[in-house]
Amino acid sequence: MLDILEETTASLPWTIRNKYVLMTGATNGIGLAAAHALAKNGARLGLIARNKDKAEACAARIRLESGLSHAHIDIFIADMSSMHSVRTVAEEILEACPRIDVLINNAGAFYDRRYWSEDHVEMTWALNHLGPFLLTTLLLSRLKENVESRIIFTSSHGHKMARNGIGYGDLDGSRLYGPFKRFLGGANLRYGETKLANLLYTVELAKRLQGTGISANCFDPGLVSTGFNMNNGMLAKMTMSCMKPFSRMPEKGAETLVWLAESTELTGQSGNYYKDLKIGNPSKAAQDLSSAARLWEISEQQISHILS
Ligand SMILES: NC(=O)c1ccc[n+]([C@@H]2O[C@H](COP(=O)([O-])OP(=O)(O)OC[C@H]3O[C@@H](n4cnc5c(N)ncnc54)[C@H](OP(=O)(O)O)[C@@H]3O)[C@@H](O)[C@H]2O)c1
Repeated sequence: MLDILEETTASLPWTIRNKYVLMTGATNGIGLAAAHALAKNGARLGLIARNKDKAEACAARIRLESGLSHAHIDIFIADMSSMHSVRTVAEEILEACPRIDVLINNAGAFYDRRYWSEDHVEMTWALNHLGPFLLTTLLLSRLKENVESRIIFTSSHGHKMARNGIGYGDLDGSRLYGPFKRFLGGANLRYGETKLANLLYTVELAKRLQGTGISANCFDPGLVSTGFNMNNGMLAKMTMSCMKPFSRMPEKGAETLVWLAESTELTGQSGNYYKDLKIGNPSKAAQDLSSAARLWEISEQQISHILS
């Protein structure tokens, strides 16, 4: 019966209704707004969150506010900066989800000083790049089982801050988070490097996935009023509230993300960077194919070192 259903739907145009969408970072900001919209439009959701109570409260809110008391929402718990946690949650997901249609790597943060992840990796790099890299790698086999699947990364205009590319020789951020350097743009540069990594990974992934039916795209949500940068003390909170009048609401920030997940016209489009429902302008560093290949190789090495 399932085979017949699969054969019949295979030739139909893409629709989000009944698709299984797995997302990180859906407990706040852009991700939460996207989860609301996707549930409302008929997607079945799997939320990967670090805080179970918060994730359950979000699921309850989505069900209530979308008027869909029986909306399908699974919750999986993981710290996306910990490679052991990501590996464990991927195993749980593969066990629990016979089908994944869309994977949205959205969780991310900015850190104004150097923190170490559980695996002793600089935190911004671990959370914004290495975690999504590993999660995607571990779920690829399931995504490949469909006629069409989509992988989406939340990148940022901020990738342009890393105009000289990624400092592969200093992935632990020593040159960026020195005593004064973090105030002189070092922390911004590190964030920019990780968002550049989202773009370069998208390009390399799309290249490697050609012919599989899986697309990989990323987008810039614009400046959005969320919990972003609220983890960096009073001054950062004051800065973010000053920027609020110039920021978008989370629903607007999520618009391109929802469109990338839902739009029929995007079938077959892969390896692109979008902004405001159209192709955006990536930096020159984001078009460096040798850097994209190097990023892949270095990320694999880092992960195998951590998990060995
Ligand atoms: N806001 C902007 O102006 C802007 C602009 C460009 C790009 N972005 C990107 O947009 C994405 C979403 O950010 P946002 O603005 O919506 O910020 P946000 O409101 O702070 O949301 C961040 C999300 O990531 C989750 N998260 C953070 N650390 C995590 C961890 N270690 N493990 C698992 N989940 C974790 C958070 O979970 P909790 O709810 O538990 O904290 C939350 O769900 C990020 O990738 C960010 O870089 C934002």
